[in-house]
Amino acid sequence: MTDTVLEPATETAVADPLFQPITLRDLTLRNRISMSPMTRYFSPNGVPGEDVVSYYRRRAEAGVGLIVTEGVGIDHLTAVDDPAIPHMYGKAALEGWRRVTDAVHAAGGRIFPQLWHQGPLRDPARSSRPDLVGSRPSGHWGKAGHTSYGDAYVDAMRAPTQPIESVEITDIITAFASAARNAMEAGFDGVALHGGHGYLIDSFLWHETNHRTDRYGGDTSRRAAFAVEIVAAVRAEIGNAPIMFRFSQHKQQDYGARLGETPEELGALLMPLAQAGVDLFDASGRVFDRPAFEGSNLSLAGWAKKLTGKPSVAIGGIGLGNGLGETLSDSSETRPLDNLQAARDAIARNEFDMAGVGRAILNDPQWVERVRKRQPFVAFDRANLRRLA
Ligand SMILES: Cc1cc2nc3c(=O)[nH]c(=O)nc-3n(C[C@H](O)[C@H](O)[C@H](O)COP(=O)(O)O)c2cc1C
Repeated sequence: MTDTVLEPATETAVADPLFQPITLRDLTLRNRISMSPMTRYFSPNGVPGEDVVSYYRRRAEAGVGLIVTEGVGIDHLTAVDDPAIPHMYGKAALEGWRRVTDAVHAAGGRIFPQLWHQGPLRDPARSSRPDLVGSRPSGHWGKAGHTSYGDAYVDAMRAPTQPIESVEITDIITAFASAARNAMEAGFDGVALHGGHGYLIDSFLWHETNHRTDRYGGDTSRRAAFAVEIVAAVRAEIGNAPIMFRFSQHKQQDYGARLGETPEELGALLMPLAQAGVDLFDASGRVFDRPAFEGSNLSLAGWAKKLTGKPSVAIGGIGLGNGLGETLSDSSETRPLDNLQAARDAIARNEFDMAGVGRAILNDPQWVERVRKRQPFVAFDRANLRRLA
């Protein structure tokens, strides 16, 4: 009998769960950190320029596993309001995005665009077409609750409009599909869909904004039909590239809103999306590890994974001690905070798969490198909300 030789601990046995690769379909991401989508208003006439290229390049160079771009308008008249929001159509914008994807790939990164239609939340006054009202499933803006919008704005936006007609619904689904095709041509590695926060896709999911009586409204599965048709149409255009889908309980109209009161209700919305081709659920929340439903410690991302069997991303306050509302309203200083162990533990026990990080990466391009090297975080500088640091 030979002596037992103890192997040295393998790299993976002791390695940081945040820095393990993950594969979605054929795409392997180098780690579990995803830069969350953040609108920056730096693309005049919808065209991302060299400042946007270097903004994303810096994040890729510092090791972000997956960059999800700011919301990017699809080719529909009322998709996005501000002319400095980038879009995913037209030669100039697609050439700009090609420079972004080339720069990210050269740095070993991967990048998805977040395809966006603002729906009820499009502000006509902000747009170059103030005569056009936002597209709304039933003409409703949504039940206003706790929100960072001012009263006068909410009153103006709450005025009912005409519900969108089915022909327009078909046009919008087609516009999502062609934006996805354009994204592939511009070199993106997959596509993210903005299905949260009360924007168009979410306004079909949310019972407060969707009172339709056609096949896009009614019970939960019918409210999911619009999103399902978009996912299927995108899937038909992008082959085996991954689709990420952002959803949220909260809405810009009401941070206290809930898409699903129970896990069953949430599952009834998410499961058809998984079946239609979603590969990764981006569970947008305010506190990434907060229990999502009574009676369980599971986070929203944990539930998304449990209910659908698909990988998920947890978001909200990673690397920071304050919520997004406080940062945007300037009510208090945004403090860096190393709260990452909870994310490491949840990934290690398979509760969710990735950590979505917004403000911390907006503030500090080197943030992922600091996490990897276990270096302290830098102070949050509010000026970075108004520039491309
Ligand atoms: C300046 C800014 C712009 C944002 N724009 C978007 C957006 O375009 N699409 C989106 O889904 N979420 C957007 N968000 C929300 C973030 O993606 C993220 O969910 C949120 O900031 C919470 O993550 P954090 O606590 O890590 O910042 C934005 C957040 C900030 C701070």
